[in-house]
Amino acid sequence: MNMQRIETMTGNYNLENYEEMYKNFNWEEVKKEFSWYDSGKVNIAYETIDRHADNPDKADQTALIYTAPDREEKLTFSELKQKSNQFANVLKKHEIEKGDRVFLFMPRSPEFYMSFLGILKVGAIAGPLFEAFMEQAVRDRLEDSEAKMLITTPELLNRVPVNELPNLEKIVLVGDTNSSDHIDFYKEMEQASKSFDIEWVDLEDGMLLHYTSGSTGKPKGVYHVHNAMLQHYQTAKWVLDLQKDDVYWCTADPGWVTGTSYGIFGPWLNGVTNVIVGGRFSPENWYKTLQDYKVSVWYSAPTAFRKLMSAGEDAVKPFDISNLRHVLSVGEPLNPEVIAWGMDAFKLRIHDTWWMTETGAQLICNYPALDMKPGSMGKPFPGITASIIDNEGNELPPNQMGNLAIKAPWPSMMRAIWKRPEKYESYFLNGWYVSGDSAYKDEEGYFWFQGRLDDVINTSGERVGPFEVESKLIEHEAVAEAGVIGKPDPERGEIIKAFITLNDGYNKSDELLEDIRQFVKKGLSAHAAPREIEVADKIPKTRSGKIMRRLLKSWELGLPTGDTSTLEE
Ligand code: WT7
Repeated sequence: MNMQRIETMTGNYNLENYEEMYKNFNWEEVKKEFSWYDSGKVNIAYETIDRHADNPDKADQTALIYTAPDREEKLTFSELKQKSNQFANVLKKHEIEKGDRVFLFMPRSPEFYMSFLGILKVGAIAGPLFEAFMEQAVRDRLEDSEAKMLITTPELLNRVPVNELPNLEKIVLVGDTNSSDHIDFYKEMEQASKSFDIEWVDLEDGMLLHYTSGSTGKPKGVYHVHNAMLQHYQTAKWVLDLQKDDVYWCTADPGWVTGTSYGIFGPWLNGVTNVIVGGRFSPENWYKTLQDYKVSVWYSAPTAFRKLMSAGEDAVKPFDISNLRHVLSVGEPLNPEVIAWGMDAFKLRIHDTWWMTETGAQLICNYPALDMKPGSMGKPFPGITASIIDNEGNELPPNQMGNLAIKAPWPSMMRAIWKRPEKYESYFLNGWYVSGDSAYKDEEGYFWFQGRLDDVINTSGERVGPFEVESKLIEHEAVAEAGVIGKPDPERGEIIKAFITLNDGYNKSDELLEDIRQFVKKGLSAHAAPREIEVADKIPKTRSGKIMRRLLKSWELGLPTGDTSTLEE
């Protein structure tokens, strides 16, 4: 096989001629696909679910298949409409109004999806939190967003510092509870009416807050609006290539943007059956899911593919996954070896896609009907202008590495960083949105990812800010100073490595380092805990006191240290 270029496979794809479409595309045309084009009344939850539920041909089609080791449940579009209506009524009863922030902190479950859609139906802003977050991570997000309500489970409630969050007025508990302080999800759902008058909003009204990490400061709230549906819909149609009879599975958790844009909006805006898998990853479970539900379109991540790859051929052999017709990847660089393995294991190309929490939807992609160059993220979506720019905002010629940038705006672009206008402004230069990634574009217009330009760490596709980890580390009584970097790792992309100095009276020992690791894990989350901790004599800092992570990284990799003129004495 020629791994320089893998030609398009034959099939009937929604987007047949990428180059032609790129030249003629206009977002205005996409608007005509939506009911609000005529009615002027907008709500993304309506377009996602109710529109299909109100269509006799689609009402009884399975919208959601939930599968976990201990539970399986299916809901049609019509049932999902009713359930989300019921929850919207519960929210109304408890005085949730347009613009209020309502957070969700629970494992993937049908209740999550009913609640999420209910929040949108009342015009409130949903804030999904990854279930692995620990107290500090939960607190930071609820505090910053001034969330009024939280939907969680009795098990997770002990990670929520309820008494220290003055804005958090109400808690809904999903699960057995005899607490009278909180709202009982099941009890109130039972009493709630199945019909609800949707809150019609403006296209520019808020619907979603996703917290994500940068290289400095606490996690920031990336604010998305209803208008994003234009791009969710169109990318799911052309990139995921969703068609009427597809069964689609996105492996991402809705605590991350992939799990909302493409685990909720993309598939359902296109009226497709959506598989949601709970429980833990194992190659057997995953292959069994592909087989049992006859999954045809599958969106996952390089880390997962690499794990499946290392499980070997014997892991896939017992399963019939012949319904699979289209496979996609996002979150970190997709190695050509993984694509070669996919050609072997699935007889299919794995299509890389590039985007970010801030971009709201896919921007640079590989398309089923376009030749693919393994290692490349592909080409910009129609309607999207992508380029490589220098630090002054000038476009660079092909094959020159620089800042990967997108002409602003586009439909699903974030509209704010919650309460931090200067932070939001700092993303833009000369009309370009600057991604923080470095890349180059080749003569044929394919984009090639090179790395992050800031200190943000990408571990197993999850974005971790070094500052957050450093802050937690120095809260440990033994730690004086800390500097945190991403260290290359064959399976996880990067792992988190911490350099620390110890306070007087503490000596380095395996037990102490493990204790420090556990401290971060219990405070923040498992994925943010450093896998490696090295005790150093000093943490290199600039004269103004900034940790020089770049220098730590050079040490770690045995590379030349470059310019150290700002290093303190
Ligand atoms: C960062 C964004 C929205 C997708 C999930 C991650 C990295 C994303 C790719 C790719 C190489 C990628 C970038 C980006 N990234 N996709 N196809 N190839 N790197 O969203 O947590 O906001 O992270 O993930 O560095 O800036 P996120």
